[in-house]
Amino acid sequence: MPISTAYVPTDRPERYIKQLVSHLGRKATTTLSTDGRATIALSHGECVLAPAGGALEMIATAADAEALAGVQDVVTRHLLRFATQEELRTEWTEPVAGDELEILSPVAGDYLLTHCTQPDELLRELVARTREATGGAAGMQISHDEGAFLSLLVRMTGARRAIEVGVFTGYSSLCVARALPEDGHLLACDVSEEWTSIAREYWERAGVADRVELRIGPALDTLRALPAEPVYDFAFIDADKPSYPAYYEEIVSRLRPGGLIVLDNVFQGGRVFDPAFQEASQVAIRQVNELIARDERVESVMLPVRDGVTLARRR
Ligand SMILES: C[S@@+](CC[C@H](N)C(=O)[O-])C[C@H]1O[C@@H](n2cnc3c(N)ncnc32)[C@H](O)[C@@H]1O
Repeated sequence: MPISTAYVPTDRPERYIKQLVSHLGRKATTTLSTDGRATIALSHGECVLAPAGGALEMIATAADAEALAGVQDVVTRHLLRFATQEELRTEWTEPVAGDELEILSPVAGDYLLTHCTQPDELLRELVARTREATGGAAGMQISHDEGAFLSLLVRMTGARRAIEVGVFTGYSSLCVARALPEDGHLLACDVSEEWTSIAREYWERAGVADRVELRIGPALDTLRALPAEPVYDFAFIDADKPSYPAYYEEIVSRLRPGGLIVLDNVFQGGRVFDPAFQEASQVAIRQVNELIARDERVESVMLPVRDGVTLARRR
């Protein structure tokens, strides 16, 4: 489903949004929230309008390129008609599908990698070993900056009891386990004996093996078998995407107040933004994203860290 955006410099974005909503509201379904953000659902597509510091930001989506051009045309024509006191520049970007959106440029991505606490030799070795042992699957490993982020979060929250869903060869579990105190505990869940055998080796070498309890089997079974008490301080979810809503539910009820859940891959390579993508993983991630945003039990934020990371803190 093509998506196109326009960034229109103006000091009056709120005023234009109100005018567009009021005028187009006669033939379209519109919403306007108190922060000035609006949606206009036309018969052939949708446009989101938002005030953005000295500009009006517009995001148009439609089923195909022709319908998208129609949405752009309706919104642009009306906007220009309302702009009687200034000359607006409305340039729409080329239409792209969700998985073609550039969320983080390679330049920024590389800069982020080199401007965080750098991985030590053991982590670097684990990356090389994973590539050698697992080939293409190595792409599942989290990046250095995300690992540094996890360690920081564990230390900042003072977590002692943690859960990881999706161990693979152990990169993220090493970052979490090393950041726990000496008497800390990490319950690590995965289905693969083969991949986690590498993780075990690196937990040993890092001197944290006594903090990690590996449970092999479907993580949902492992989580459901845990006592119901809210005793966990930290959780990282990075496994099979269709189970994310269930993992979240099982974990959030077992988090102590102030405990933190971190979910990886909540952008699905940009596919969550594009309703044309309807695979089970994409549907489940959209579902958990909605669930968390509305969940009164937590305060949450979604960050553009790599493929999108959500932090949800238990109230
Ligand atoms: C993306 S990888 C995890 C990467 C890891 N966090 C890292 O930093 O290297 C996903 C892992 O989830 C595991 N997995 C898939 N389905 C699972 C399930 N139902 N229960 C537990 N683990 C599962 C896979 O075996 C795989 O190791």
